[in-house]
Amino acid sequence: MPQLPLRRIPRTPTLVIRPLIATDVDHILELQELAYAGYYLESADSFTVKIAAGPETCFGAWFEGQLVGYLVAVPLSGDEPLHLNSTDLQSTPMGKAQVLYIHDLAVHPERRKTGLGDVLLVHLYDSANRYGIETYSLVAVQNSTGYWAQRGFEPQGGPPAIGYGPEAVRMSRR
Ligand SMILES: CC(C)(COP(=O)(O)OP(=O)(O)OC[C@H]1O[C@@H](n2cnc3c(N)ncnc32)[C@H](O)[C@@H]1OP(=O)(O)O)[C@@H](O)C(=O)NCCC(=O)NCCS
Repeated sequence: MPQLPLRRIPRTPTLVIRPLIATDVDHILELQELAYAGYYLESADSFTVKIAAGPETCFGAWFEGQLVGYLVAVPLSGDEPLHLNSTDLQSTPMGKAQVLYIHDLAVHPERRKTGLGDVLLVHLYDSANRYGIETYSLVAVQNSTGYWAQRGFEPQGGPPAIGYGPEAVRMSRR
């Protein structure tokens, strides 16, 4: 039988979304620097504890091996926000959580305006739906209240979130 010639199969770059793991933290720190003003930068330890607390609620978006977006959220029993850069985390198993606290959502500046944040949020909502969790909370910074309002979040009362400064707005969605 004649041999078929080997053909070069064109490689289509694909976006991969998968749960974050501890070894992703260096990539997160690099992207964090591009997405946040210095005042908000958090430590590697602070990401590590949140990824450990939210194996079903933290996701990374990868394009050609580069982290281009991440969402860090943790299940909590109440709606008190975490302190900025906190490593002291009282998380709750998904089965017992009342609230999903969206701690951080960031997209690489060159990958914005394609709705990648929404893609990551849908992964979180799917996870929440599996456990019947219906409440989300967050602290909006860097003038992102409009972004969150478009996604159904409303300003929430309560004491200010610790460490974020006066421009931060606590928001929630039910
Ligand atoms: C917030 C962020 C993740 C959104 O990135 P994205 O998923 O690429 O979002 P897009 O640029 O596709 O925008 C989606 C929609 O939200 C709107 N939007 C984006 N940022 C906004 C803002 N700060 N305020 C109001 N609306 C905003 C866009 O206009 C767009 O609206 P449209 O669908 O009607 O056109 C990105 O801007 C980011 O990484 N910011 C820096 C980190 C940050 O501040 N995160 C929020 C902290 S709480």
